[in-house]
Amino acid sequence: MIRLLVNLLVFVVNVLYRDRPYPRFYVLETVARVPYFAYISVLHLYETLGWWRKADWLKIHFAESWNELHHLLIMEALGGDRLWWDRLLARTTAVVYYWIIVFVYFISSGAAYRFMELVEQKAYSSYDEFLNRRQTWLKSQPAPQIAIDYYRDGDLYMFDEFQTGQQELRRPAIDNLYDVFLNIRDDEAEHIKTMATCQQPHAKHTLTSPYVKDKYIPRTFQ
Ligand SMILES: [Fe+2]
Ligand SMILES: [Fe+2]
Repeated sequence: MIRLLVNLLVFVVNVLYRDRPYPRFYVLETVARVPYFAYISVLHLYETLGWWRKADWLKIHFAESWNELHHLLIMEALGGDRLWWDRLLARTTAVVYYWIIVFVYFISSGAAYRFMELVEQKAYSSYDEFLNRRQTWLKSQPAPQIAIDYYRDGDLYMFDEFQTGQQELRRPAIDNLYDVFLNIRDDEAEHIKTMATCQQPHAKHTLTSPYVKDKYIPRTFQ
């Protein structure tokens, strides 16, 4: 069922948006961040009911959703959301996927993380293919200001926080649009790693902020 949901999303987006990359990425980024909202919603409910304390995972998933928000803002800055029917399709699909993933997460958090691992793999290949196909043109285009702020000149704390597997902090060059898409693609690779780790039985001991040098885990999170 998980694979079917992912393939359905990718098939529809690829067929409808074959020759319109920015609207395609806008739709993908709108839909592909809602599973993080779903995880956060259910984890908040568990916290509220006192069933399960996973506040550190809330932090990671929020940082991941913050990263995907910036992918979305970049696509909007490039005009991907200009047409109302693209916005309508993106938001309608996002609402449907949000509730499906909330339900799946209740039943099996592993299946919900597996879903997102597959979505992130598709996102990685889409951006990789786009980078290879439009390399020369992308290098001649300027980077949107929102990308410069998020990756280079702004507050980089949230950018660092979503990368749970990194030994060193990423400090990318953002000189043109190629650099922007390259970093979006690399972000998707980080999400794939985190989603794969979330499915492991001892994930909470390995998923830590890059700022935690000695991997100390606060007692309240154990
Ligand atoms: Fe993304
Ligand atoms: Fe993603």
